[in-house]
Amino acid sequence: MTHADDGLVSHAPPGADDLASAVVAAEARIAAAGPEYGDPGALRRDLAGWQECDLGRWMLCTRGWDGYWTRYCIGYDRDPDEATNEVEHFFLTRSPAILATRERYGIFHGLLAEHVTTGSVALSVPCGLLEDLLSLPGAADADALIGVDLDRAALVAAADNAAAHGLTDQCTLAAADAWRLTDAEVVLGDVSVYSTAVGQRVDVLTSNGLNIYVGDDSRVLDLYRSFHAALRPGGVLIASALTPPTHWDLGDMTEADLTRARGLNLINDVMWANYRTPETTRDQLEAAGFTRVEKYPDSRGIFPTFVARARL
Ligand SMILES: C[S@@+](CC[C@H](N)C(=O)[O-])C[C@H]1O[C@@H](n2cnc3c(N)ncnc32)[C@H](O)[C@@H]1O
Repeated sequence: MTHADDGLVSHAPPGADDLASAVVAAEARIAAAGPEYGDPGALRRDLAGWQECDLGRWMLCTRGWDGYWTRYCIGYDRDPDEATNEVEHFFLTRSPAILATRERYGIFHGLLAEHVTTGSVALSVPCGLLEDLLSLPGAADADALIGVDLDRAALVAAADNAAAHGLTDQCTLAAADAWRLTDAEVVLGDVSVYSTAVGQRVDVLTSNGLNIYVGDDSRVLDLYRSFHAALRPGGVLIASALTPPTHWDLGDMTEADLTRARGLNLINDVMWANYRTPETTRDQLEAAGFTRVEKYPDSRGIFPTFVARARL
C-alpha cells in the first residue's frame, strides 16, 4: 500500500491503521509463513515483544519510518544491557538492512562533508530532521541548508534540530512533494532563497529514504528528473538505493540472526522493500540526465551510495 493520494510514500499517516488490526494481519502472515522464517512460536514471541516498544508499535501501524524514527534508528547507540526492548535492540543492531542504512549514513556524511563547504547551497529531499546537513563540519559556512519534506511534523522537528545546532539562520525548510519541488510552501527562512535554489542553483542534493518506498521504476525516474531540475549544471547528487537480497554479502552473519531478521521483516511488512540492482540505478540516473555516476558500496553490498553530476 502506498499513499499516493496524499503523496506520502514512506509511512502511513499515524492513526491510519490501528495496532489491533495491524497485529491481526501480522499474525496471519506468521500463520502462512514458510520454513525460511523459522519457528512460528519464536515469530509470535517477537511479535509480542515488538508491540511492547514505541518503535515496534509505530512500524506495525505505519509500515515505514518517518523523519523522527529514521533519526532514532540511525542514531541508536546502546549496549544490550541499556536496551529498552530486546526485539528493538536486535532489530537495530543485527538486521542486515538496518545495519546497512546506519553504515550508509556514515558514507553520506563523509561525501557530503566534501561538498558542503563555504558558500554551498545544499538541499536534502526528503529531509526528515535534516541531521544529514546540520551535522556537517562545513554547515555553518554554507550559503543555504535547505530541507524539503512533505510531512509537517518532520519540518517542525527539523526546525528544532536546526536551532539545537545553532544553524537556524542558514536553514530554509519547505513543505513539498519531492516530485514537484517548485510547488512548495516555505515554512522557515526566505521564500526567494528556496525558489532561486530549486531553479537550477543547488550545488549538492542529498536524498535518502524515498526511492526505496517506490515500486514503480518510472516514478523513480521522475524523482531523479525532479532532483536534476533543481541542481545547477555540474551539481552533485548523493543518493542511495537498496539492492536485491541476492546481491547481499552476509557471510559474517549467523543463520540464526538472518532467520530472525527475516521474521521481523515479515512481521513489519515494510513498504521500503523495493530493490534495484546498481546497474538499474545507474541507468535511471543517466536517463534522468546525470553523468559520471560513481558507486560507493557498504560493506555487505546492501545499500550502495551513488554520487552523480547533473549534466553540464
Ligand atoms: C525514511 S524517512 C528519511 C528522512 C531523511 N532522509 C533521513 O535520512 O533522516 C522518509 C521521509 O520521506 C518523507 N516523505 C515521504 N513521502 C514524501 C514525498 N512524496 N515528498 C517529500 N517527502 C516525503 C517522510 O515524511 C519522511 O520524512
